[in-house]
Amino acid sequence: MKNEPAQSTQDARAAADSPYDHWVFWCESSSCRFSGAAESRAALVAALRAQGTSNVAVVRSGCLGLCGAGPNAVTYPEGTVYLHADREHADRLAANLARGTPDQLLAVKTPAWYREHLVARLGRIVEHLVSRLRADEGGR
Ligand code: FES
Repeated sequence: MKNEPAQSTQDARAAADSPYDHWVFWCESSSCRFSGAAESRAALVAALRAQGTSNVAVVRSGCLGLCGAGPNAVTYPEGTVYLHADREHADRLAANLARGTPDQLLAVKTPAWYREHLVARLGRIVEHLVSRLRADEGGR
């Protein structure tokens, strides 16, 4: 099963104006937080900085409905799902996120319909976040 990004008008709009090529939504809700989500996100951000990556946005999120396998994360526009995204995987995740390629060891295979639904929902969130970024830039 290929892990390709879903294409929609929403995706195209969000991607066109985004200052980032890739987004990762990192669950820090209760179960994932208990499993070390804050520490693994911090390790990922440090790894992205260490490799000089500036095209990836890391966004804390609420529950992704994948509790029990945390820390969990999903990406946009790829729609890759990561379970057990522990801090020891930060370097390899950072490298894959910068390229927009799913990490072959950590990515979970998902049905196309699920990925398309996920990407469409994330596209609306990214569009909202990008519009807020642009508004903040205009207010400076
Ligand atoms: S608490 Fe992280 S997926 Fe539910």
